[in-house]
Amino acid sequence: MKTRITELLGTEAPIIQGGMAWVAEWHLAAAVSNAGGLGIIGAASAPAEIVREQVRKVKELTDKPFGVNIMLLNPNAPEVAKVVIEEGVQVVTTGAGSPAKFMADWKAAGVKVIPVVASVAMAVMMERAGADAVVAEGAEAGGHIGSTNTMSLVPQVVDAVKIPVIAAGGIADGRGMAAAFMLGAEGVQMGTRFVAAEESIVHENFKNKLCKATDIDSVVTGLSTGHPIRVLRNKMTKEYLKLEQEGAPFEELEKLTLGSLRKAVMDGDIDNGSLMSGQIAGMIKEVKSCKDIISGIVSDAEKLLKI
Ligand SMILES: Cc1cc2nc3c(=O)[nH]c(=O)nc-3n(C[C@H](O)[C@H](O)[C@H](O)COP(=O)(O)O)c2cc1C
Repeated sequence: MKTRITELLGTEAPIIQGGMAWVAEWHLAAAVSNAGGLGIIGAASAPAEIVREQVRKVKELTDKPFGVNIMLLNPNAPEVAKVVIEEGVQVVTTGAGSPAKFMADWKAAGVKVIPVVASVAMAVMMERAGADAVVAEGAEAGGHIGSTNTMSLVPQVVDAVKIPVIAAGGIADGRGMAAAFMLGAEGVQMGTRFVAAEESIVHENFKNKLCKATDIDSVVTGLSTGHPIRVLRNKMTKEYLKLEQEGAPFEELEKLTLGSLRKAVMDGDIDNGSLMSGQIAGMIKEVKSCKDIISGIVSDAEKLLKI
């Protein structure tokens, strides 16, 4: 399956594993890259030296390309941006802001830059700033989201930019990938599907909850704070949404979510943790290896697209 994305990334398949705080660490990133996709280390709020260690561990396990996801609002972002160059990381995906101020250094070092966007305006801005491609992420996705759904967002972004577009949000099988390609995407990014990968370090309680979820089991918290996040419904979201409805101040809401993704991923606390997952969780019924996930999706998509 060759597209401008496989050419750009040097991967076999045009499939990216989304950068995911706590979830996307070296085991998962290396497994995805070894399976022919692009594994990504989610830097999130980790100190730069921890990210460097993660990068080195991935390099020990694979000689295939992989990337780092940097959340630009994070105070550590400038240091992580340097680590990426020093360690020869081939690809950076960015979230939460514009990577413009790092662009010249990354380009000079040959790093491919792929911002994650949730609107046409942001995609156009990123193209002008020198991005090599964009991930257009619809509101079906797990984690922090925008407001437009994948079905509407992807073709509008494709029409607005010349660089290749990677679709994200609600994709977890060959049908989703084929549909994204019909909308003009040349690659897909998946998060939720890889949470339930054999190689993901996510606690089995979280994986089991995800595999039992139905189509309507995700909710969006944080709409009132301007930071909407899609997670699976649980005790924490029930309390959070009640407080939001009552107009609770940001500080009170934050108390409920501080460290909550860690609780879900590392401790398996499915009541109080933040079970970040997309709407497609309802379709994911079993934990599979990255190799089975990627080869299954590619072969099904190829049949549907008659490649
Ligand atoms: C548990 C979890 C954590 C995430 N954390 C991040 C993150 O730190 N940075 C980021 O850019 N996207 C993050 N995302 C979004 C993913 O990278 C990806 O774009 C998204 O999951 C795609 O939609 P899907 O969940 O429907 O596959 C996260 C998603 C999940 C499920």
